[in-house]
Amino acid sequence: MSDKTIGIIMNGVTGRMGTNQHLVRSILAIREQGGVVLSDGSRLIPEPVLTGRNADKVRRLAEAHGVAKHTTDLDAVLADPAYPIFFDASGTPYRKAFLERAIAAGKHVYCEKPTATVVADALSIAETAEAAGVKNGTVQDKLWLPGIRKFQLLKEQGFFGRILSVRGEFGYWVFTGEYDGQPIQRPSWNYRKEDGGGLVVDMHCHWRYVIDNCFGNVTRVFCKAARHIPERRDEAGNMYPCTTDDSAYAVFETDSGVVCQFNSSWNVRVRRDDLFTMQVDGTKGSAIVGLRKCWVQHESMTPRPVWNPDIDSPIDYYADWNEVPDQLPFDNAFKVQWEMFLKHVAEDAPFPWTLREGAKGVQLAELSLQSDAEGRWIDVPALG
Ligand SMILES: NC(=O)c1ccc[n+]([C@@H]2O[C@H](COP(=O)([O-])OP(=O)(O)OC[C@H]3O[C@@H](n4cnc5c(N)ncnc54)[C@H](O)[C@@H]3O)[C@@H](O)[C@H]2O)c1
Repeated sequence: MSDKTIGIIMNGVTGRMGTNQHLVRSILAIREQGGVVLSDGSRLIPEPVLTGRNADKVRRLAEAHGVAKHTTDLDAVLADPAYPIFFDASGTPYRKAFLERAIAAGKHVYCEKPTATVVADALSIAETAEAAGVKNGTVQDKLWLPGIRKFQLLKEQGFFGRILSVRGEFGYWVFTGEYDGQPIQRPSWNYRKEDGGGLVVDMHCHWRYVIDNCFGNVTRVFCKAARHIPERRDEAGNMYPCTTDDSAYAVFETDSGVVCQFNSSWNVRVRRDDLFTMQVDGTKGSAIVGLRKCWVQHESMTPRPVWNPDIDSPIDYYADWNEVPDQLPFDNAFKVQWEMFLKHVAEDAPFPWTLREGAKGVQLAELSLQSDAEGRWIDVPALG
C-alpha cells in the first residue's frame, strides 16, 4: 500500500469561497492531516495547482499558503495528465465554459454552486459531463453542517413524529457601503443580475438540496422576490444600481406533504439563534436547526400558552428547549464533501451530489423567479 498524490486544478480560488473554504479549509487541511484514507488503508494526497486570470493575485495566494504551483496558462494544466481533477470557484457566469473546457480535456470536474444561472445551461453541462463519462459533482455544503447533521439524526430516530412544516430564516444585514465606517461585506456582483448575482439564484439552489434531502422532493413553489435596496457602493467606492433581487419570501411544497417556507434576505437584522435557522415542527417534537447548534422541544415538554396580551408572558418560551450535544467532532462541511469527491474519483465511492443534482437547484431558482414574475404557484417537474 503506497500513498498516492492526485493533482487538482483549482480555478478562480482567489475569491472568498475559493480561498477560505476550498483552498485553506479543505485541500490544504486535507494535506496537513496527511491526505484522505482510502479503503485499502493507503492515503491520497491532493496536489493543487492554482489557476486564474491575474498572475500576481494567483502568485500571492500561492505564496501566502505555501502552494508550490500556480499559473495563468489554464490550457497547459488542462493538457497535463498529472491533474485529473478540475475545480471551479470562479464567478457563476464563467462556470459553464470552464467546465466544458475541462471536460473536453478529460478531467473529472467539481465546482461551486450554482452550476449556472439558468437551468438549460446547468442541464447541458451535466449532460456533457455524463456523455464524456467523467466523474462530476457540485458543492452542497449545507448537508454537512453540524446543525443539519444533528437534525438528520433526530429524524432518523423518530424524534419528530410526523413532520408538518419547516420555517427557514436566512440572512443578515449587508451594508450598502454608503458610510465609510460600514464597508460592504459581500462582493458587489451579488447585486448585479448581469454578473450572476441575485439572492434567489444564490440561495434557492441551497434550499433545493436541503429540502430534497431532509424533508421531501420539492414539487411546487410560490415566491415573492424583492429588490429592496436599489443602489449600493462597489469595491472601488462607486455607487452602482442593483439590478437583481436581494430578498425572497418563498413557500415550497414537497411530495411528502411537508410545507417549507423560507425567507432569505440580505436586508434583515438578526434577532434569532443564527444567520440561518430552520424551525421544524412535528407531531411529537420540534427543532430549531442552526448552522452548528440544534435545540429541541419534545411534546412532553411543550408549554401550554394562553393568549393574553394584557400581561407579560408568564412563560419563558426559550426555557423549555434543550440543546442537542455534539456527539462527534464535526469537520468543515466543504472539506467533508471534498474528501468524498476525492474517494469517488480514486476508488469509485458513491457521490450522489452530481452536476445533475446541482441542476435541480438552478431549476428551483429559475421557477421561483417565474413565480415572482407571474404572481402564481409554479409546478416543479422532475428534471431530465
Ligand atoms: N457554497 C456556498 O455557500 C457559496 C457561498 C458564496 C458563494 N458561492 C459561490 O462561489 C462562487 C464564487 O463566489 P465568491 O463569493 O467567492 O465570489 P468572489 O467574487 O469573492 O470570487 C470570485 C472569484 O472568481 C474569479 N474570477 C472571476 N472571473 C473569472 C474568470 N473569468 N476566470 C478566472 N477567475 C475568475 C475572481 O477573480 C475571484 O477570485 C460563486 O459562484 C458563488 O455563487 C458559494
